[in-house]
Amino acid sequence: MLIALLPGDGIGPEVIAQARRVLDALGLDGVTYQEAAVGGAAYKASGHPLPPETLDLARRADAILFGAVGDPACDMLERHLRPEQAILGLRKELALFANLRPAKLFPELASESALRPEIAAQIDMMIVRELNGDVYFGEKGMRKTADGKREGYDIMSYNEDEVRRIAHVGFKTAMARNGRLCSVDKANVLETSQLWRDVVTETAAEYPSVQLSHMYVDNCAMQLVRAPGQFDVIVTGNLFGDILSDQASMCAGSIGMLPSASLDKAGKGLYEPIHGSAPDIAGQGKANPLAMILSAAMMLRYSLGHPAAADRVEAAVAGALAGGARSGDLGGSMSTSEMGNAVLAAL
Ligand code: IPM
Ligand code: MG
Repeated sequence: MLIALLPGDGIGPEVIAQARRVLDALGLDGVTYQEAAVGGAAYKASGHPLPPETLDLARRADAILFGAVGDPACDMLERHLRPEQAILGLRKELALFANLRPAKLFPELASESALRPEIAAQIDMMIVRELNGDVYFGEKGMRKTADGKREGYDIMSYNEDEVRRIAHVGFKTAMARNGRLCSVDKANVLETSQLWRDVVTETAAEYPSVQLSHMYVDNCAMQLVRAPGQFDVIVTGNLFGDILSDQASMCAGSIGMLPSASLDKAGKGLYEPIHGSAPDIAGQGKANPLAMILSAAMMLRYSLGHPAAADRVEAAVAGALAGGARSGDLGGSMSTSEMGNAVLAAL
């Protein structure tokens, strides 16, 4: 099994180093690693955020462990050269259309949640975010209006095949959990969302045991803080999923805690924390590596066929938290490597 390590920018390299220590400690047979540059780091080294050799490694690998991309120094570049294009390019080129973002409160972190502890305690959901379509990948550009004003535009669209394949992932995920699926859209305003709702409703006929509901995204944002316990599985489009998963992460304690898996139809995956490159704390050893370590656990489960090892890593993270391990985002002062040490000790 070949694992591609793509550390990227900002805190990416720091957190991926801790995930690597944890993976090494598991002593898995037949796993090899190969590293490549991605994002702003790759742009600086070779003039492109997703160089051909990095894309080639990602294609050859059985799984990809991805840190983060984003570098304020690159914000003035043309869009196709910006660090973010690396992750968007990997998702698209490898057809990683299904993004699984679990949000669950570790009981030890109840006091860190932005919500009251008794409300935060209810949080245990999976956000299934579509990753290959929507306004992210539609035609976009800058133009002039008839009266000479600058105008930016981004076309939002989904076709029914794109909606159907992510709907199936949503229903299957719900069947493997508590059987409740909430599809989130903005069908009261957007045609894209009306089609989304129609196709999800049609697909439901194949999953009679799943209880399907529909919710507008503005209401969902409100319900996530009012009564997050009502959600089991949420399925939604690329843009709404991006926003709602950041919100869910803070409800569950910290954005430094949420892992994700981005899967293709065969189950090949890219694994990354949902947080970004955090340039403000990069290089200072302050980043919380737990979302990255939990992403490695998802990789063990979904791509490497090691569910028991995944359980061990997740238990070690819980153990480290129970033992008082806290980085700055969790109200403590432990460094990135001290957090890694705590997980290794618990392992
Ligand atoms: C995420 C990030 C990315 C996204 C950025 C870095 C392009 O916010 O994975 O949630 O918008 O998808
Ligand atoms: Mg995001």
